[in-house]
Amino acid sequence: MGPAEIVVVGSYNHDVVLSVAHLPAPGETCLALGRRTSPGGKGSNQAVQAARCSARVAMLAAIGCDPAGDEALDVWAGAGIEAAASPRLADHGTGIAMILVDAKGENRIVVDPGANAHLTPSHIDQAAALIRSAKLVLAQLETPVTATRRAFEIARQAGVLTALNAAPAPDAIDAELIALTDILFVNEIEAGALAGGADPAEAGAALLARVGQAVIITLGKEGAVLFHRGQPRRAHPAHSIDAVDTTGAGDAFIGAFVAHLVKSGSFDQAMAWGLAAGALACTAMGAVTSFAPENRIAGLLAPQA
Ligand code: RIB
Repeated sequence: MGPAEIVVVGSYNHDVVLSVAHLPAPGETCLALGRRTSPGGKGSNQAVQAARCSARVAMLAAIGCDPAGDEALDVWAGAGIEAAASPRLADHGTGIAMILVDAKGENRIVVDPGANAHLTPSHIDQAAALIRSAKLVLAQLETPVTATRRAFEIARQAGVLTALNAAPAPDAIDAELIALTDILFVNEIEAGALAGGADPAEAGAALLARVGQAVIITLGKEGAVLFHRGQPRRAHPAHSIDAVDTTGAGDAFIGAFVAHLVKSGSFDQAMAWGLAAGALACTAMGAVTSFAPENRIAGLLAPQA
């Protein structure tokens, strides 16, 4: 196995998923219909889907010295993800996420970052060689911006592509971080938050002016739109599926997208793989527990070929 093509600087969370008939209104208490735990965290989820699309992936996440941290190492080892650069912190527990999923498959997520909030620029510096030898560095906003910025600085100096998923939706984005970003992934809410409430078309154009190469806005059932510098905006439709749980669908999209971008260099191919992986991720419960292997994603794409 060669060096990692994709380095994910991001989070790991232990997800606690409660199924509910409907999402509670403010002040309402409702009884869950079921409870499950599963591996999560936007960074780890994206890394796992990229690895399932046969990319060589390394994970740089801070985890605790607790059973959830052990679980993270097992998940990464099982997916063939290199994790030697991920620090285990003695003083902070592994991140957790509480997730409510309703009968329509819609969710609400609250994250307690724990160790994720203590990933530092110095952890990143220790992994500088890993970043310099990659093709793409991918990050989200569940870990400190100072660490992500350092990773992107190292990547930029070495000519490595930088990709940012601006999730969870920030109140404002760090100007230096976005200036260091080549590819930006946002959903409709995040696009609106970053571009001051504009509709997706306006938001995409405004955000494209701030990044190096491309902005991708995911729109759930409506598919996704690619804003690629120097090219007309391209809307890609979603696959029609019966959604059971949409948790992690955006992560599956991004993981498959970056894996196939690194492989083919084609943004359109990457969009197709991302949309198919995202659709399949909605057909079962959980995040990585619902992510499809490459051959199933290829099967969904085959009729279009
Ligand atoms: O995107 C889904 C993820 O968001 C969950 O796995 C949860 O851990 C939160 O990070």
